[in-house]
Amino acid sequence: MKEKLKVLLIGAAFSADLHMDGYARMLDKVEIVGIADRDLSRVSALADRYGITGYTPYDSFERAIAEAECDLVDICMPNFLHHEIAMLALDKGRHIVCEKPLATTVEDGEEMIATAKKKGLHIYYAEDWLGSPAMNKALNIINSGKLGKLLYVRARECHNGSHSPFAQKIALCGGGCMIHLGVHPVGFMLAMKNNEWDSVVAMTSGGLNNNLKHTSMEGEDFAAAIMRFKDGTFAVMEGNYVTQGGMEDYIDFYCSEGCLHVDLTFSSALRAFSIPGLEYTVEKADITTGWSNPAVDEKYNLGYVAEIAHFVDCAANDSEARIGLRGVDGLEALKVINKIYQSAKEGVLIKNEK
Ligand SMILES: NC(=O)c1ccc[n+]([C@@H]2O[C@H](COP(=O)([O-])OP(=O)(O)OC[C@H]3O[C@@H](n4cnc5c(N)ncnc54)[C@H](O)[C@@H]3O)[C@@H](O)[C@H]2O)c1
Repeated sequence: MKEKLKVLLIGAAFSADLHMDGYARMLDKVEIVGIADRDLSRVSALADRYGITGYTPYDSFERAIAEAECDLVDICMPNFLHHEIAMLALDKGRHIVCEKPLATTVEDGEEMIATAKKKGLHIYYAEDWLGSPAMNKALNIINSGKLGKLLYVRARECHNGSHSPFAQKIALCGGGCMIHLGVHPVGFMLAMKNNEWDSVVAMTSGGLNNNLKHTSMEGEDFAAAIMRFKDGTFAVMEGNYVTQGGMEDYIDFYCSEGCLHVDLTFSSALRAFSIPGLEYTVEKADITTGWSNPAVDEKYNLGYVAEIAHFVDCAANDSEARIGLRGVDGLEALKVINKIYQSAKEGVLIKNEK
């Protein structure tokens, strides 16, 4: 029998839960050998939630990487730690999964990619939109040509503000809602268009007192970019923290012979009305009273399950991930986000130099 892929999970908070849900669905192929978080109560709570046993808990990622015998290190930690943890794991000869954004700076991201290449290791970039069954169905329909030529895409991820304390400072996060939420539409569009973008222009709310609502947050709470791709397609990509009522992941495709609308968060088969309120409906919905559309299998719908399954298969076969999910795609998304920030700051349209 083929040995199971040994996974060390770094982080035991929100995104670690999203990834663990994926691993827990394929325990015939995967063994969780360790979970690291400085808050050990989160480690045991996460493992218990998914019935994971036989793993080693670590309160330090340095010790976890030094000691755990594993094939894959999965980084679900605050953005500013991605680079440091990735470098330790790559030095140890491990493939890595890295949550978005790849790093907080392009220089750090470039060093990660160069090191992985030098060592013959893979970086898997966790852009969950690309694992979403609805998105993949949408792409199949568009690629079938039955809507005609794709002309324009409007894509956004928006909610009412990050739960993470690390999202408040630019040095820890890399920016505001564009790097934290807009990274999904940007990564998705780049993957769809093979990273072949031509030019971008953007505006953001600017951060702190310039923000629309979150005036203690250093990064912006509203950002939108217009991008033109080399084949002439346009996209508007947006992230904001001023959206109440639950997380919106909307993608609209406008084509010469039709259109297609994707709603990843509210397109549930369920519709409920509750006077006392339900336990949970969708991510970032503060209240659950009255009418709601409770998500049926949120992590599956948002793409985490397929994303993790793809990474497990790739790591087991020592192969590269598909486009959009490779480390280099994470780096391209990070570069574009930096161009978006530059465009907004300088008030200029930026051309792709490549
Ligand atoms: N793909 C998605 O949809 C999605 C959703 C949420 C978060 N994320 C990404 O996942 C990553 C983690 O975000 P999050 O919201 O899960 O968690 P978080 O940022 O709130 O914190 C993660 C965990 O890191 C631990 N931690 C912090 N510093 C540490 C240190 N020095 N040593 C050991 N442990 C430490 C904390 O105890 C916490 O449990 C971020 O990069 C974020 O962008 C992705």
